[in-house]
Amino acid sequence: MTVECERIFLTGGSGRLGGELRALLPGIVAPSETDVDVTRQADVDRALDRAGPEVLVHAAAYTDVAGAETHRRACWKVNVEGTRNVVRAVWARGIFLVHISTDYVFEGTRGGYREDDPVGPVRNYYSLSKLAAEELARLSPAHLVIRTSFRPRQWPYPVAFTDVFTSQDYVDVIAPDIALVIRRCRDVPHHTLHVATERKSAYDLARRRSPDVRPGTKTEAGVDLPDDISLDTSRWRELKAQWSSP
Ligand SMILES: NC(=O)c1ccc[n+]([C@@H]2O[C@H](COP(=O)([O-])OP(=O)(O)OC[C@H]3O[C@@H](n4cnc5c(N)ncnc54)[C@H](OP(=O)(O)O)[C@@H]3O)[C@@H](O)[C@H]2O)c1
Repeated sequence: MTVECERIFLTGGSGRLGGELRALLPGIVAPSETDVDVTRQADVDRALDRAGPEVLVHAAAYTDVAGAETHRRACWKVNVEGTRNVVRAVWARGIFLVHISTDYVFEGTRGGYREDDPVGPVRNYYSLSKLAAEELARLSPAHLVIRTSFRPRQWPYPVAFTDVFTSQDYVDVIAPDIALVIRRCRDVPHHTLHVATERKSAYDLARRRSPDVRPGTKTEAGVDLPDDISLDTSRWRELKAQWSSP
């Protein structure tokens, strides 16, 4: 039997993914950071008591990967302490938690990472904080961790690397799949799901929307990038096929 969740609460609704989810899930309750700062337990508790959701999608995060290296305290506060507050609040109210995580919990050397593969060692402080957040989310009695990766609707750089492999995609490609998973989260027979597309180079992804993008190599990046951070998505593909069959 199909169980569609209706009363959904979103953190991070003003973000890149959050904006897409708000458009895809009409009726979703998505307060701004001013109304609900996840680093403040009382904000989260009050908002959930008012909204009474059955599902909370936790997409709020400190996402500036370079900034996180120099602003570690701020990154930890939002990503780890904020997630801890969210977990306490959903646990106390019997709310299902959908936690948005990242491919960067993996090392990024061999690619094709499956949901149950060992995580780490992580490459940067942002990834460390997201890994800690994932583990906190798993404490919630009813939860699903979605690992994903996405770009804005347009490729944002003049160059793209031919030697970095990924299963990420544009946010308007990824978000509809995540929205579907959110609606059917109680039907997912797993606690972790990789929602992404096929493995390709960053250059191949960039060319889809920016045909004139210049090919480059990651030696130009100035930051430590993975060779292959792609996720195995067979679990999600099987589930999606099952859901779309009559
Ligand atoms: N972008 C990617 O490629 C990628 C890949 C894998 C996973 N993810 C994960 O996907 C989720 C969404 O990412 P995104 O790229 O859409 O992020 P984003 O555009 O940077 O948006 C982050 C959101 O978090 C909110 N936020 C930050 N601090 C907060 C706080 N203390 N309390 C409440 N809200 C707070 C922001 O609100 P303000 O706008 O008010 O600051 C914003 O709505 C994150 O969990 C991220 O780690 C992203």
